[in-house]
Amino acid sequence: MRNLKNKIAWITGASSGLGEALVYRLAKENCKIVLTSNEEDKLEDVAKKSGLRSENYLVLPLELENFDAEAAVRQVVDKFGGIDILINNAGICQKDFGEKTRESIERKIMEINYFAMVKLTKACLPYLKASKGSVAAVGSLNGLVGAPMLTTYAASKFAVKGYFESLRYELEKYGVQVLLIIPGFMKTDITIKSLTGDGSQFGQNSITNEIGLSVDKCANKICNALIKDKSYIRMGGLEHLFPVVSMFFPGIHFWVFRKLHKL
Ligand SMILES: NC(=O)c1ccc[n+]([C@@H]2O[C@H](COP(=O)([O-])OP(=O)(O)OC[C@H]3O[C@@H](n4cnc5c(N)ncnc54)[C@H](OP(=O)(O)O)[C@@H]3O)[C@@H](O)[C@H]2O)c1
Repeated sequence: MRNLKNKIAWITGASSGLGEALVYRLAKENCKIVLTSNEEDKLEDVAKKSGLRSENYLVLPLELENFDAEAAVRQVVDKFGGIDILINNAGICQKDFGEKTRESIERKIMEINYFAMVKLTKACLPYLKASKGSVAAVGSLNGLVGAPMLTTYAASKFAVKGYFESLRYELEKYGVQVLLIIPGFMKTDITIKSLTGDGSQFGQNSITNEIGLSVDKCANKICNALIKDKSYIRMGGLEHLFPVVSMFFPGIHFWVFRKLHKL
């Protein structure tokens, strides 16, 4: 069992959705929290709403498509003296056909969703090893099964799964927990903010986000998984049957997705 009380926790994507809920949940554990996303004002608002005192949080805006991870880690260590928990949560979604998606947009999604997680995790590792801490990565059900209009998003999340599942074996001997988080449908605005093939915002919500699990419930599940030293959690409902159906009855899965997307 692990303890979250008074830990130093770094959350990426802390300005909205699941990351914001994690800030509020970890603030209740008296954690010192580093809030990262690319929008400083939104992060300041979240930090204020969390009730944390200014000495117990650090707003650290980063454009995760292109950032200096070592310099960011130095800022955190200068303020708090170490790192106990890193939650790689920031992500961006895609809503367009693969054929219509520009290479620059595909690279942007891979940078934010995959390479930023790898880069930040590696820069934090000396401190996570020293604290025998935890690193978590938010994957997706689309990191287990593909779906139309999500070619690069799915590819980025498959990469996250492969990387963090493998890293777990390498870090066990240092006492570092590696937690892979697989959300199904969550109630957030991620689809509205999705990138289309030319880089513009999709601008519409999806039914799966409207009916999805609340981010507060998901944040609770993640904290419980951190406490219980788990390496893998799924969050959501029956949508988690998709990978099982896809593995044993790939034809049925393909047919359902084709019908759902009217292809
Ligand atoms: N919602 C779902 O149904 C669902 C399902 C499976 C997996 N997930 C995963 O869950 C995680 C959290 O997503 P969410 O649903 O909570 O969506 P969200 O509300 O859109 O949160 C995404 C966060 O990532 C930040 N972010 C995006 N691009 C960034 C960049 N270039 N640099 C720095 N920060 C950036 C956003 O900041 P700004 O908004 O300030 O730009 C925001 O704080 C993501 O990894 C997502 O892929 C979500």
